[in-house]
Amino acid sequence: MKNLIIANWKCNPLTLNEALDIFESAKKQITEKGLKNTEAVICPPFQYIEFLKSDLNALMLGGQDCYSQEKGAFTGEVSALMLKNSGCQYVIIGHSERRKYQKESDELINEKINAALKAGLKPVLCIDQVSQLEIDLKDVSYKEVAVAYEPLWAIGTGKACGIPEALDMNQKIKEVLGKDAIVLYGGSVKSDNARGYIEEAGYNGLLVGGASLVPDEFFKILEGVDLI
Ligand code: PGA
Repeated sequence: MKNLIIANWKCNPLTLNEALDIFESAKKQITEKGLKNTEAVICPPFQYIEFLKSDLNALMLGGQDCYSQEKGAFTGEVSALMLKNSGCQYVIIGHSERRKYQKESDELINEKINAALKAGLKPVLCIDQVSQLEIDLKDVSYKEVAVAYEPLWAIGTGKACGIPEALDMNQKIKEVLGKDAIVLYGGSVKSDNARGYIEEAGYNGLLVGGASLVPDEFFKILEGVDLI
């Protein structure tokens, strides 16, 4: 299995031109330098998705959230099928910022995961505690999702999780789900700490926030983990 690197742009950047610059720069570096063992998925804000096109196998698109229903009278929502129809292959679900600011419950997250699977998207479920898996993945096969462990205190703080603690969580998640579960680490990932999570803590990939908006830094992460 290839390393899976998810770029979570969150509510950035402010203009389509900037979004195009960041995306095209990633595309150019991947095309020129190549990636053998790594796949990147860029998750921009919804309104940029249709404008970002990649024909590279190593560069895909994802959403940062999706609604639990396919279509209808749900003002302001974007469905999983809309994302799929716009070229996405992945969708982040249950990010801690949505759990906190949008008060998303584990039950809603479970519905969103089911909606994503029905639409043919691969959900990337974010958790900070193993106990969340029970409801979030109720009646869902772990083989159909990727799980990202993101300690709350490490998100956007520059204080990345130490390797022993990250390793311990990776093992705990795999004990619950299965040895072959796809588990990612997220929280203050940068080019100088990225490799350790995969090489030493045994993760299958990374969820990268802030660093994914800086093209050279993001490519350094991809290039570094690709050597593993
Ligand atoms: P960060 O964000 O890399 O900026 O810490 C990670 C995330 O929230 O997905």
